[in-house]
Amino acid sequence: MQTAVEPETVKADAGAPAPKVAIRLENLSKTYPGSEFKAVDGLSLEVRVGEVVTLLGPSGCGKSTTLRMVAGLEEPDEGSIYFGDDAVVLTHTGFSLPPEKRNVGMVFQSYAIWPHMTVEENVAFPLKARKFPSSEIRPRVAAILEMVGMAGMEKRPGPLLSGGQQQRVALARALVTEPRTLLLDEPFSNLDAKLREQMRLEVKLLQKRLNIAVLFVTHDQVEALSLSDRIALIDAGVVQQQGSPHLLYEEPANAFVRDFIGKTLLFKGRVETANPAGPMAIKIDGAPDCVVFGRSYHPDGIKVGNAVFIGVRPEDVEIVAASGGEAPAGMIGGTVSTALFIGERFEYQIAVDDQRLIVIYGDRHDPLAEGAKIWLRLRADGHSAWPSDRSGARASDG
Ligand SMILES: Nc1ncnc2c1ncn2[C@@H]1O[C@H](COP(=O)(O)OP(=O)(O)OP(=O)(O)O)[C@@H](O)[C@H]1O
Ligand SMILES: [Mg+2]
Repeated sequence: MQTAVEPETVKADAGAPAPKVAIRLENLSKTYPGSEFKAVDGLSLEVRVGEVVTLLGPSGCGKSTTLRMVAGLEEPDEGSIYFGDDAVVLTHTGFSLPPEKRNVGMVFQSYAIWPHMTVEENVAFPLKARKFPSSEIRPRVAAILEMVGMAGMEKRPGPLLSGGQQQRVALARALVTEPRTLLLDEPFSNLDAKLREQMRLEVKLLQKRLNIAVLFVTHDQVEALSLSDRIALIDAGVVQQQGSPHLLYEEPANAFVRDFIGKTLLFKGRVETANPAGPMAIKIDGAPDCVVFGRSYHPDGIKVGNAVFIGVRPEDVEIVAASGGEAPAGMIGGTVSTALFIGERFEYQIAVDDQRLIVIYGDRHDPLAEGAKIWLRLRADGHSAWPSDRSGARASDG
């Protein structure tokens, strides 16, 4: 099991009060009856007013379980949940506010809409339940259906909708009351790529306009990176790292985070200079003169002279046609072993000198032949450094 790490400290603007906390989860754990392992294990996080926080992680890691505990549909075994300053669940006293009193909007992963109601009736239901006057219900329902692209389908019964349409109705139903807190479990999973992009933008705009707190669940890293103010990346019920999308991408806390978010090429090298507070200089094996700079999340464990892996994002590698002789400064040589045309670009497998095989992408206008000698120019800095004994296990070279 990977070690969990402390959340990134929040950098508030000097002088400006930090936004209020909308949801606070403290040390939540949950084991389902009959199961031997914890579906959620010691999870703590905060969602502030006006913020989107995403639970990201592979299938089965405990995302939906966490969201369902916040909504009151599952009871945690341990831990506390607060909405603002108010306790919602305190396991040590046995207190748990019933779900209908929690006043959150939720879209379930299964987007259950009521089959015996039309689109319009589904979306109007939460307003009717809250005794909104009918003069207000009509325009609200119309506006939200317009937003999710379902205008014109008001009278359609629930069962006669496609999966993506049902998902949009579920989203409209959760948004129509303009709740202060919104829980979204994979709300775009059934939409095609274009609609998904559009809905992502709409939800982000609405969230900004209403300044609401959103706890969002996805296993899609692009969705997480683009929507979130902060991400909690979870593996096997344990938060591996939480912080801004930028932090998780640039300074992954462990190999799981590094390989889950984006792609990483691992190059073998040796530490030339180490500075606990800053980047270390690493000489790349197999290159005559290639030194790059990278940071380690645990710099104390890496000393000058140590063999290490340096994690390089593929977009930080440039392919250069070799013109005979040794690779110049800042570059390493290699040979194209396979070239696959995948539409907008080429995907190359490169046998890098004295390194393992890597996969990188190249320009479709300038294809390389299999067997061609090339040089790779590595960006000089901004990489991540990893002790060589622990780095390779989860490496995804390409
Ligand atoms: N009702 C249940 N009873 C027993 N085990 C459950 C139940 N619901 C979920 N689990 C188990 O708990 C773990 C976490 O499940 P959860 O639904 O929270 O995962 P998830 O991260 O939402 O995954 P996905 O991305 O596939 O939706 C899984 O191992 C799952 O099999
Ligand atoms: Mg789920």
